[in-house]
Amino acid sequence: MEENGKKVTRRKFLEAGIGVITGAIAVGLGGTALTSIGAPAITNKREGKWVEAGNASELADGQFHKIGITYDAKDGWLEGKVKQLVYVKVNGEEVFALSATCTHLGCNVNFDEQSGNFKCPCHSGVYDATGENVSGPPTHSLAKLEAKVEDGKLMINTALKEA
Ligand code: FES
Repeated sequence: MEENGKKVTRRKFLEAGIGVITGAIAVGLGGTALTSIGAPAITNKREGKWVEAGNASELADGQFHKIGITYDAKDGWLEGKVKQLVYVKVNGEEVFALSATCTHLGCNVNFDEQSGNFKCPCHSGVYDATGENVSGPPTHSLAKLEAKVEDGKLMINTALKEA
């Protein structure tokens, strides 16, 4: 075999080929690593903390209330304030809470009184009153959150639970 007038041995040809393949793999892995570092931290896994979300007596029993909670959070190396919308339904001392974040691409769902379902305005995802996905692109239910009434205050735990 000849290259630029020089004789290339079979061994050198194979070594060059291996070098090219190794380089391509390294670029591929590097690209993946950079993508991961550059990507926003979208994760449901985070340490939960109890957050006070107002007076429970101000919430009418048996209906959903959209409540915004804000808290400090740390996710990997990211730290900052998290604002989260939660739907809460109080029945006496019992509290049912769902994340308002659509599991498709993260828009906030709205509760539709007429149908009794949560509807996502972005791509028409629909969830029933328990948070179960019933139609549209979402393949997962809305995340549930632990919630309780303590000393008259509505308390919400920020840890998201799979529905
Ligand atoms: S973000 Fe809700 S259906 Fe797409």
